[in-house]
Amino acid sequence: MNPEDMMADIANEHGYRTFSLGEFTFNRDEYFAHINWPTGNHTMSIDDFLRALQRDVAWQFFYGIVNFDPVLGTVNHYGNVDLFAGSFNEAYRRAELDHLENFGQDEILSAFNAILVDWTNDSFDPFASPEETGSAWGDKSGSNQAAVTRRRVTAQRMVGVSGDERLRSDESGFPVNRMFADIPQNEPLVEAEPGFENEVAAFSLFAYLSRSDVTWNPSVVSVCGDSLFCPTTEEYILPIIHGNDRVEWFVQLSDEIEWVVEDRDSGAMRARVTMRAGDVGAMAADIRHRGYSPKRSMLLVWENASPQLPELIASGRAPTYPVEF
Ligand code: PHB
Ligand code: FE
Repeated sequence: MNPEDMMADIANEHGYRTFSLGEFTFNRDEYFAHINWPTGNHTMSIDDFLRALQRDVAWQFFYGIVNFDPVLGTVNHYGNVDLFAGSFNEAYRRAELDHLENFGQDEILSAFNAILVDWTNDSFDPFASPEETGSAWGDKSGSNQAAVTRRRVTAQRMVGVSGDERLRSDESGFPVNRMFADIPQNEPLVEAEPGFENEVAAFSLFAYLSRSDVTWNPSVVSVCGDSLFCPTTEEYILPIIHGNDRVEWFVQLSDEIEWVVEDRDSGAMRARVTMRAGDVGAMAADIRHRGYSPKRSMLLVWENASPQLPELIASGRAPTYPVEF
């Protein structure tokens, strides 16, 4: 047995396994995740760490950079992934404490998944808002397999067209969320010409989203070429700081989110943006951003999934901003 496998099999004094991935090691105790690498070490509150790890695993490293906090994170190269500490932090780089290693997507995904499964206790759901989940703290106590292996709902054509999963009735097992009790639940009336009953569909996106039981987890509800509409329900703080490799658009569908926007590479503050219901905005391709949603809100994230974009932008052939006024 090689030392790495042995390490992962021995539980520490708190009942949690210790993991190593390349030269990084991950250890948890009652309150914290401890991350070590050859030139440094880092500590994160375990609830924040698990919320970020859950997104990175479920989204398979997302678009561009997923910062767990201003120090730790991943860069998605779509097939392989960088795990870094301090690489997007001016002070860490200057002090030469930064460290970056590249892994095949399957290797890092299975390591991250193993940490997530082992370190999440039965009382904690990393996808839920803080008010709707129990504690992440303490020595190891059971597991929450159902929560951590939850999959995003992906539409095959468009939500509402027959064959797609629906979350629209009380029988779905998804009750209307406490903060969306005022959302009307009636559906639009569709009168299709004979023969087109399976081609024409409409549904209430507000009613659909009012039953979402997770926060900060965009689901693809429509696909048109590379254009993906990914609405989501948000409450409390986006568990990651997203570093873009492309422009993405936000349509604030209800309530309000405050965005903190920083330089992607240094972390220097760039802007604070308050988006209220009806506001439309775009996040540039050279920034990172984190949202704060004081009340559960509905947000439409509009992604351009073209695999050419990161290279076009990085090489300067496409701009980092979305429109020229
Ligand atoms: C984003 O990084 O753009 C993002 C991620 C998750 C959300 C909303 C926005 O729920
Ligand atoms: Fe983003």
